Amino acid sequence: MDSIIVNGGKELSGVIPIAGAKNACLTLMPATLLSEEPLTLTNAPRLSDIKTMTQLLESLGAEVTSMQDGQVQAMSCHGAINHVAEYDIVRKMRASNLVLGPLLAREGQAVVSLPGGCAIGARPMDIHTNGLEAMGATIELKDGYLHAKAPMGGLKGAVIDFPFASVGATENIMMAATLAKGTTVINNAAREPEIVDLADCLRKMGAQIEGDGSPSITIQGVDRLHGATHPVVTDRIELGTYMLAPAIAGGEVELLGGRINLIEAFCEKLDTAGISVTETERGLKVARKNGRLSAVDVVTEPFPGFPTDLQAQMMALLCTAEGTSVLEEKIFENRFMHAPELIRMGANIEVNGGTATVHGVNRLKGAPVMATDLRASVSLILAGLAAEGETRVSRVYHLDRGYEQVVRKFSGVDAQIERIKDE
Ligand code: UD1
Repeated sequence: MDSIIVNGGKELSGVIPIAGAKNACLTLMPATLLSEEPLTLTNAPRLSDIKTMTQLLESLGAEVTSMQDGQVQAMSCHGAINHVAEYDIVRKMRASNLVLGPLLAREGQAVVSLPGGCAIGARPMDIHTNGLEAMGATIELKDGYLHAKAPMGGLKGAVIDFPFASVGATENIMMAATLAKGTTVINNAAREPEIVDLADCLRKMGAQIEGDGSPSITIQGVDRLHGATHPVVTDRIELGTYMLAPAIAGGEVELLGGRINLIEAFCEKLDTAGISVTETERGLKVARKNGRLSAVDVVTEPFPGFPTDLQAQMMALLCTAEGTSVLEEKIFENRFMHAPELIRMGANIEVNGGTATVHGVNRLKGAPVMATDLRASVSLILAGLAAEGETRVSRVYHLDRGYEQVVRKFSGVDAQIERIKDE
């Protein structure tokens, strides 16, 4: 296992290119199961989660070719499909559950292991399965696997009211509905940019979808989908993460490919905290306005609210802001595992259920800390940039799931950071 060593206290300057979105790519890739013709994704991020999805799709009978150092994923699923998604692959990543809808739609059956993923909460699949059952599927849980079957003649369109705007369930139902008989309406659908990106790609493949980006999505089923080429949308979470680097350490950094409309609620909080974000021709420029940062309160919500995937990184920023900030986590029940690690660096944080209260301190101090999940890991690197002395973040394999070339990107703006192999 590798560690990352950060030496803090240095102002940052330069540019950071932002990759294609991990979460978009992980839902675009299973869309290949819906068609016999090839689907090519450009601007794919180079991440271990994408390799895991590649492995999973290959195990189901797809051919996947990575080109241009992994930035292009060409997939084809013209032959026979295996409909069993095995535990050994699925356990590595919750997004593996995104093969369920496409397999049911194309093959009429799917056996999908219940997923693993980050240890940030229970993350059940009832919204996915209830939606598919409303479309006529029968689903049983046996030996840790969901056994799903479509009715004779295939899935049928249905009106589905989600109890919560689940991102994954919206994606699964949207994909399943593209090949169902009749019209499906998803009410209280998720509105994340990754949903719109998936809908754009499915439309290129011949699907009939309207309303994506709003709380009600309508999908008119078609007989078949064809091939397409699609660029993956910019990763708004990687963008927000790197925007926090100059906010935390000082200096000015330009994020190539960044757009405010991907991340508006987050930019508003940065503005209140005392950070300026300006649009440039190439992306976004971020710097501190002046003086010490101010505390801000944050509540995580489905898009267009403040993203849960930026909560840990925002907490790292608020550790050294003047005053008291309250962070409320409303999406996942166990997502403050970074707090005890930040406290080891001198932060003053109290966690009470889904609420963390951060009393700003003048300075953080470097310390050995441990990454507990993907976003928590990068929050510790950010905290390290602001800290006095050396921070050693261990268990960084979590980072490789969601941040490509993390050391190179931070070093490119003068951060003192290196990756070392542990003994
Ligand atoms: C996706 C993102 C993840 C992000 C999350 C919320 C991907 C690959 N991952 O995860 O990075 O943090 O959206 O923005 O895109 N829930 C249920 N039943 C279900 C489904 C979900 O109770 O059937 C609950 C979950 O336990 C969780 C909440 O709903 O508390 C959010 O889950 P969801 O929106 O489905 O997130 P994911 O799609 O898993």
